[in-house]
Amino acid sequence: MSFFANKQNLVSDILRRYPTDRKRSAVMPLLREVQNAEGYVSDERIAEIAGIIESTATEVMSVMSFYSTYSSIPTGKYHLQVCMTLSCALAGSDQLWDYLQDKLEISQGEVTSDGLFSLQRVECLGSCGTAPLMQISDAGYAECLTKKRTDALLEELKRRGDGSIPANDTPTPVFVKHIDGRVVQVTSDGQIAGGNA
Ligand code: FES
Repeated sequence: MSFFANKQNLVSDILRRYPTDRKRSAVMPLLREVQNAEGYVSDERIAEIAGIIESTATEVMSVMSFYSTYSSIPTGKYHLQVCMTLSCALAGSDQLWDYLQDKLEISQGEVTSDGLFSLQRVECLGSCGTAPLMQISDAGYAECLTKKRTDALLEELKRRGDGSIPANDTPTPVFVKHIDGRVVQVTSDGQIAGGNA
């Protein structure tokens, strides 16, 4: 079934933002509409978007695969995207990733049986100073994650269950300290950042 067939006003509005000979520029807002509505962009939707912008499915996929904000497989209500790049890795993102996998009993690209959570490893989210962190769908970041903070966050997300997230409570600044011969980041409320605590 077509996604855009009964959304011609929306399609026209999006296409109007670009020169008539540059319809391909509309690829990202069209992808965004599908991603928001269905939680991922299927091959069928990719083909539909390619038709609208007079391009090819391969071109649409090449744009889509560049951005972690679009998913080609189904995601949970809360799509947890864990940054695995250097600053987050040094602050314990590997341990955080393992902890999330164990706790949610899913791995990369999988969705929990209740449809609430999915997991994805992503590259730098641009907030290296509050590592380790994850992006929750497109709703916001959860930063300076410890096991304790992760537990509390997951409980709160389960309680909500509607895709909304709590206000960012990032306890900044994050301090660097030597503890037991290790250099660690400690949040202002005294917790060691990363999956070690
Ligand atoms: S390395 Fe994780 S936000 Fe930059």
